[in-house]
Amino acid sequence: MATLTMNTVSAFPPSPPSTSRNSQANSDDATSDIPIHSNKHLLKSYPLPPENGVKTVQPEDLKTPDAHVERDPRLIRLTGIHPLNCEAPLTALYNQGFLTNEDLHFVRNHGHVPDCLDEDILDWTFTIEGMVERPFTLTVRDLIGKYEQATYPVTLVCAGNRRKEQNMVRKSKGFSWGPAGLSTALWTGVPISDLLSQAKPIRGARYVCFEGADKLPNGYYGTSIKLNWCMSPDRGVMVAHKMNGCTLHKDHGKPVRIIIPGQIGGRSVKWLKRIIVTKEPSDNWYHIYDNRVLPTMITPEASANLPDVWKDEKYAIYDLNVNSATCYPQHDEMLSLDTHAKTYKVRGYAYGGGGRRITRVEVTLDKGRTWRLANIDYPEDAYRNAPDGDTLYGGRMDVWWRETCFCWCFWELDIQISELENSADICIRAMDEGLMTQPRDMYWSVLGMMNNPWFRVAIHKED
Ligand code: MTE
Repeated sequence: MATLTMNTVSAFPPSPPSTSRNSQANSDDATSDIPIHSNKHLLKSYPLPPENGVKTVQPEDLKTPDAHVERDPRLIRLTGIHPLNCEAPLTALYNQGFLTNEDLHFVRNHGHVPDCLDEDILDWTFTIEGMVERPFTLTVRDLIGKYEQATYPVTLVCAGNRRKEQNMVRKSKGFSWGPAGLSTALWTGVPISDLLSQAKPIRGARYVCFEGADKLPNGYYGTSIKLNWCMSPDRGVMVAHKMNGCTLHKDHGKPVRIIIPGQIGGRSVKWLKRIIVTKEPSDNWYHIYDNRVLPTMITPEASANLPDVWKDEKYAIYDLNVNSATCYPQHDEMLSLDTHAKTYKVRGYAYGGGGRRITRVEVTLDKGRTWRLANIDYPEDAYRNAPDGDTLYGGRMDVWWRETCFCWCFWELDIQISELENSADICIRAMDEGLMTQPRDMYWSVLGMMNNPWFRVAIHKED
């Protein structure tokens, strides 16, 4: 029986793309896999997350400081047992639809998970301090009880998403994420601008630093972003205490964390203890030696002796870059050529950064000589167009009027199986509204971050 085997592969072999033909319209009968649940309390229907399953403490965690954390065994651990860094199998993530429940949400922990018991949640405190007229300390009780709440979906993406492809070309200093280092959840909390407005930043303040409760070998985990991003509705920075309507899972920051849409996940500090308004970017070790894209010629060995390069803020990364991945065909998927089906639905996800919307996803079967347009579905739009007054999980969805996109979108394209049979690979690239697109070639860097070349699936024909 003749079959096609499809493999997700790393770097694309160089071959000059031609500009002869550009796009070709495709079927517009896009069917969505996203379940739409209706909720009587809402004016409109919104996609809701799949329910959480029952989780238990995993045997391998018992002898670690995380022995108090219940987890789903389907998560793929990427750095051994401890600390937990994991992603879901890509198709399991995709099949959950637009929203991911806490069971399959990726986790990036630099160290142990701080233990906050249910009975202590409301008494957890964090501060707003630094260059402000009125510094104050807030409990989670105050955060929930004294401020207007907002709920909206945000796709968090680890800057290491797709790093495995870089490591296959040349080992970076980071561990190998596949393309499932991202997840989308409904976050409920308070816009950080409301807290900062109350604290009143003073003249000269430009940055906001965040610090978590996890004490690591180089101090508490911390980082910073710009003050004006925190104040902008288009950026949607939130202090969150609920994920998909529930108290935050321990791995995701219980009881309170920062959520920064459109930026790398590393800025969304979990187990929040301090918000510090400053003149300069954070001097936290993890702000300087993590989440950067250094120039490509800097090797892991050389980088150890270049403190000035690490400290150069221009290499710090904030907004996500445009990216996409193919979820079907899955890695090693076999397609029998003896079936009656004439077409195969190639499909996957895409996202932009900084709130920019994906405007096209293109597919090539001939290494970039010709491209065809995939159909795009943006489930997030249901939330962005929320009618006045609609609330979900106690948070207003219309709290901000914004043009920006905070989430991933889905694309799909029917391809004739006969065409796949005669192609060596399927390559995908997305483009955002700023016309930023994925490059053909990889930009390797020492931390292996922001990897976003065309996503390539190789096809092997066997008779
Ligand atoms: N916050 C603290 N306090 N400690 C951490 O290790 N990891 C960061 C960020 N916030 C981290 C943190 C990184 S690198 C990422 S990608 C996101 O959390 C991941 O969030 P998640 O684990 O909830 O998916």
